[in-house]
Amino acid sequence: MKNIQKFVIRFIVLICITLSNYFGTGHGEAVFNVLDYGAVGDGIQDDSQAFLKAWGAVCGQGESSATLVIPAGKTFLLQPIDLAGPCQTNSPHVQVLGKMVAPADPNVWEKCGGFWLSFLSIQNLIMDGSGEIDGQGSSWWNGKQTKCQRPIAVQFNKCNNLQLSGLTLLNPPNAHIQIFGTNSAYLANLHLNAPEDSPNTDGIKIGASTYVQIHDSVIATGDDCIALLNGTNYINITNIACGPGHGISVGSLGGNGDYSVVEGVRVYNCSFNGTTNGARIKTYQGGRGYVRKIHFDKITLIAAQNPIIIDQNYNAHGNSNINQETSLEVSDVTYSGFEGTSADEQAITIACSASPGCLNITMYGNKITSSAPGKDVFASCNNAKGTSIDTVPIVPCLSSNSNVQL
Ligand SMILES: *[C@@H]1O[C@H](CO)[C@@H](O)[C@H](O)[C@H]1NC(C)=O
Ligand SMILES: *[C@@H]1O[C@H](CO)[C@@H](O)[C@H](O)[C@H]1NC(C)=O
Ligand SMILES: *[C@@H]1O[C@H](CO)[C@@H](O)[C@H](O)[C@H]1NC(C)=O
Ligand SMILES: *[C@@H]1O[C@H](CO)[C@@H](O)[C@H](O)[C@H]1NC(C)=O
Ligand SMILES: *[C@@H]1O[C@H](CO)[C@@H](O)[C@H](O)[C@H]1NC(C)=O
Repeated sequence: MKNIQKFVIRFIVLICITLSNYFGTGHGEAVFNVLDYGAVGDGIQDDSQAFLKAWGAVCGQGESSATLVIPAGKTFLLQPIDLAGPCQTNSPHVQVLGKMVAPADPNVWEKCGGFWLSFLSIQNLIMDGSGEIDGQGSSWWNGKQTKCQRPIAVQFNKCNNLQLSGLTLLNPPNAHIQIFGTNSAYLANLHLNAPEDSPNTDGIKIGASTYVQIHDSVIATGDDCIALLNGTNYINITNIACGPGHGISVGSLGGNGDYSVVEGVRVYNCSFNGTTNGARIKTYQGGRGYVRKIHFDKITLIAAQNPIIIDQNYNAHGNSNINQETSLEVSDVTYSGFEGTSADEQAITIACSASPGCLNITMYGNKITSSAPGKDVFASCNNAKGTSIDTVPIVPCLSSNSNVQL
């Protein structure tokens, strides 16, 4: 009799826990599997509607945290979709264990919004898992006419307190990930991978966002590994392996005479292996605004071209580095602890415009040699002021006065 009573009590408790999970008392975690909303996961049938329904359930879930599960062992074919907030739940979670793929043929894309998977206005979003997001971009890359512009694979727009980790992204038609209008984001343990010759496949593009950390990730691609665009402030980039790719770039900024600003970027313990640029700042002639407080520190170079480059004449290629026109002001930029090899003889390029030029450029403790045995490397420098200490090659336009405070 006692045993039966115990059993009944346990049973009732269990039911209550289960119900509270589903109806959200503010404490439980509700789980929504896309398979329960009609997703097939055979890589052939379109699972977009099932994803939207499942997302609706997650986002509308009481106060509790709610998880969208994209299960392992399945491949979900998705058209361009918007997973949008604001959500009822305080803590929406997208767990990617399986694979998501875009339609491989650009002509069957049903929407031309510039993005494939869009996350919009979702606060505190956590997206993680060991799954894969494959943009199947190869048909977009050959320059043939398509009905849509090449879309970015995944965007997060106005997603404050974003956490993104663990995922693999492959072969986007355009950039892999774009973060825009977001305050506070944490990105870690990502693998981004597109061929070296795929056009515009930036790894992570960030604009109009503050307090973003990106660390412990491997980015191999056909364009910038990371690009920091207008309105991007307080960014930490740590332990990133970049290559192939076009380096970690501030810019391009100030096109069409625009006012643009980037401030407070720290790039630490990153490597550039076989990249066309390393630490890059690029601004257009005629732009207004500033780039300041940028620090590249402890950077490993493996046959990188242009390991250190500031180009204030980004649209003046083919012309001389010296240009009389104005650009954004570039100031308070520090390069320290660069070590390794350059694939170009010109390892350091500081190409600043005559006005306002580049101010307070600091270099210390850098040693860059040629990747070709027996060759020398050199630095080219125009219209820059600052100091260079304990740096090889010598940077001619910077002062080597070691009494200057760092
Ligand atoms: C970036 O790193 C610096 C130095 O380690 C630290 O003080 C700062 O809080 C970090 N900022 C962010 C947004 O992580
Ligand atoms: C760049 O960002 C700044 C500050 O957020 C803003 O005032 C300006 O309008 C932006 N410029 C462009 C071209 O969007
Ligand atoms: C630097 O990054 C590499 C991986 O790219 C990592 O193995 C190493 O522990 C990092 N070092 C520091 C000091 O963070
Ligand atoms: C650099 O990249 C090449 C080609 O992908 C690779 O074989 C090599 O192991 C990489 N070197 C380092 C030190 O990671
Ligand atoms: C030069 O830049 C460094 C690093 O950003 C900064 O600490 C220092 O205060 C700047 N110096 C001047 C004179 O602005």
